[in-house]
Amino acid sequence: MKILMVCLGNVCRSPMAEGILRSKLPDSFTVDSAGITDYHVNEKPDKRAIEVCKKNNIDISKLRGRKFITSDFDEFDIIYVMDHANYSDIIFKAKKEADKKKVKLIMSESPTAVKQSVPDPFYGDIENFEKVFNQLNEACNYIAEKLIKH
Ligand code: 4NP
Repeated sequence: MKILMVCLGNVCRSPMAEGILRSKLPDSFTVDSAGITDYHVNEKPDKRAIEVCKKNNIDISKLRGRKFITSDFDEFDIIYVMDHANYSDIIFKAKKEADKKKVKLIMSESPTAVKQSVPDPFYGDIENFEKVFNQLNEACNYIAEKLIKH
């Protein structure tokens, strides 16, 4: 089973989601992340994302940014996006119905979620990154539980 996390820049939300979900799953699962833009290709995650994950014993410092490519639809079983704009951008790249079915808003996996989108923390401060971590951690708890059961 291969899961891809997608956000706009692949330096804040999706690398955090990758690290969080990987920490909850056995090694037999593949978890990766990608960005819709190429603004941060080959860059480390944002310092604040690294710091908040580190506080929670998750090391995302070795991850590097990459851009989403169309063949990711073939490579991955589930593609989680962070917000509605990401959803439209990825659906637009889909070549067939089966591709579109793989794309889900990550917070839609949480029955207790108050919001369906994970807001972009890039122009915010460390508190925004902490809120993003908590939101993603909540969703990933449900995702991991579901994936391990099946
Ligand atoms: P992310 O945040 O999509 O959560 O990685 C962003 C990071 C950088 C930019 C936008 C969003 N940017 O425009 O550079």
